[in-house]
Amino acid sequence: MDRELFCQDTPVSWGELLFETGQMLKGDNAELEAKWMIEEVSGLKHSDDYKEQAKPIQLKRLNRLIERRVAGEPLQYVLGRWQFRDLDLFVDERVLIPRPETEMLVGYALEECKSKKNDLDETRPLNVADLGCGSGAIGLSIVREAQNVSVWCTDISEGAISVARANLAGLGMAGQRVSISQGSWFEALPEEMIGKFDIIISNPPYIADSEELPLEVSEWEPSSSLRSGPLGTEDLNFLLNNSIEWLSAEGQLILELAPMQADEMVEEAKNLNFREVQLRHDLAGRERVLIARKPL
Ligand SMILES: C[S@@+](CC[C@H](N)C(=O)[O-])C[C@H]1O[C@@H](n2cnc3c(N)ncnc32)[C@H](O)[C@@H]1O
Repeated sequence: MDRELFCQDTPVSWGELLFETGQMLKGDNAELEAKWMIEEVSGLKHSDDYKEQAKPIQLKRLNRLIERRVAGEPLQYVLGRWQFRDLDLFVDERVLIPRPETEMLVGYALEECKSKKNDLDETRPLNVADLGCGSGAIGLSIVREAQNVSVWCTDISEGAISVARANLAGLGMAGQRVSISQGSWFEALPEEMIGKFDIIISNPPYIADSEELPLEVSEWEPSSSLRSGPLGTEDLNFLLNNSIEWLSAEGQLILELAPMQADEMVEEAKNLNFREVQLRHDLAGRERVLIARKPL
């Protein structure tokens, strides 16, 4: 690091710390990242309060955050939390950092929940499975934002399940409608739910083993969250092939995928006789979400 970290014995205001932290961090977002770190450590939200002085213990913590970030650790892990739609999620290196395109995936799922409610004209809750839940971003957002849903979140990773449970604890009353269990894809679901899911949603690993990733991703985020195998489409194919028996008669499978996989997955869904196979876009207009209704 080019600059000295902060001395815990010298009185210094948050305003000065903000400026100095921005100088120490690298990259285009240094100022913004410095602001988030200062907010995290100080608990302050408004720059008016930045005249206050930091306590030695806060300086110690800020120094640690700066060291981790300068060593290349993603900001989200350094802060230990990240905003995903309405949720302030706890995240660490056991889980994928939730991405903006997944916020859109949830948005599409919520639209489907709404139209199902209208079609069903029933008072029973919609049953939703979030497979490969990671931090719980998808399933917990759905239970938070949709009316009357029950959500099953599953993941193969013990670490991810612990993080999802921690996030569930922060959800309040809505959390009563969520169950979280560990296991590989459908093996983690209770057998009595066969044929009963109105929505099965997943953002599975979909990156091929040979595909290069930015260092900040490949060195820090769990490879098991990212990579699916030599083709990249192994998990997507598995979910398409094995979701059918778990879906209700009008149930839908909703999958996040990479744009270059979209046509192949549409083809595969049609070959399996899924109905109303559609693609939806991300903010940049790229095909990122496949929605398909259970075959008759
Ligand atoms: C791309 S991450 C998605 C995490 C989270 N749903 C999100 O969107 O931020 C994929 C997740 O699938 C999980 N996973 C990988 N293989 C799995 C398997 N065989 N069964 C269940 N989950 C699996 C990983 O542990 C990881 O949490």
